[in-house]
Amino acid sequence: MDSKNTAVAISIKKLTRCFNSFTAVSAIDFDIAQGITFGLLGSNGAGKTTTIKMLTTLLQPSSGTATVGGHDIITSPQAVRENIGYIPQLFSADAELSGYENLLMSAKLYGIRSSERKSRIAQVLEFMGLSEFANRLVRDYSGGMIRKLEIAQAILHKPKVLFMDEPTTGLDPVARRLVWKHIQELHRDLHTTIILTTHDMEEADHLCSMLGFMSRGKIRALGSPAELKKAVGNNATLNDVFIHFTGSTISDEDTYDNTRQMRQILNARN
Ligand SMILES: Nc1ncnc2c1ncn2[C@@H]1O[C@H](COP(=O)(O)OP(=O)(O)OP(=O)(O)O)[C@@H](O)[C@H]1O
Ligand SMILES: [Mg+2]
Repeated sequence: MDSKNTAVAISIKKLTRCFNSFTAVSAIDFDIAQGITFGLLGSNGAGKTTTIKMLTTLLQPSSGTATVGGHDIITSPQAVRENIGYIPQLFSADAELSGYENLLMSAKLYGIRSSERKSRIAQVLEFMGLSEFANRLVRDYSGGMIRKLEIAQAILHKPKVLFMDEPTTGLDPVARRLVWKHIQELHRDLHTTIILTTHDMEEADHLCSMLGFMSRGKIRALGSPAELKKAVGNNATLNDVFIHFTGSTISDEDTYDNTRQMRQILNARN
């Protein structure tokens, strides 16, 4: 079923992934509205990358499914791929090629017509502030420049939905702010729906209008940064929210308190 939904960019339905007997992602079930920046947060090993890999069709779910841009990840993976951009957790640009050559490779991969490739590459280089470094080998780029190049590669085909797995990990504060600026421009100018993961709560607070906290394969809390902070307590920070919903005291099942608080958040919204 490929019906377009104007309000929802991603609809996740009991999405599950097991590795042998271990359940890395356990029946997660929620929607992400179009045009927002959504932060998927949680401790190491919570299941964030596994979730993103399923949503980008790189990993087959064990059960459940999702639609991305109205297309089902299991029955229409090609249509999903045409509508998304993906920046993996680990650096993915080819160090032995120049920035321009990396972009050319992506342009071919995304099926951008040869007559349009040059101008589109020039546009994204300009957008990401990389024009003057286009012909330099990527092995001589800084970490921040590589991340910017990877964002440029991922937006060449103007995707509706952009997945970014830890886009700023390892970057210095200046490079991190620059990546933030570009993410905000994508949101503001192109209305791209952005799903990002980060361990940086300041980043999540700054960029995301909705957050999902994952722990041991399950979504423990969903809401705006303000809603979640309010639910945890007066003057709570997002770090407090993180510890509250993903801390080591949380059992495999949702605790009574978490469930009660989530109901309060959802009731307040309806
Ligand atoms: N291919 C695989 N085979 C076996 N186990 C895997 C595989 N991929 C992931 N896992 C396990 O699934 C769990 C979730 O991993 P995942 O990479 O999704 O976590 P994450 O939330 O992205 O963590 P991080 O914040 O460290 O990036 C981990 O326990 C991990 O070891
Ligand atoms: Mg990860």
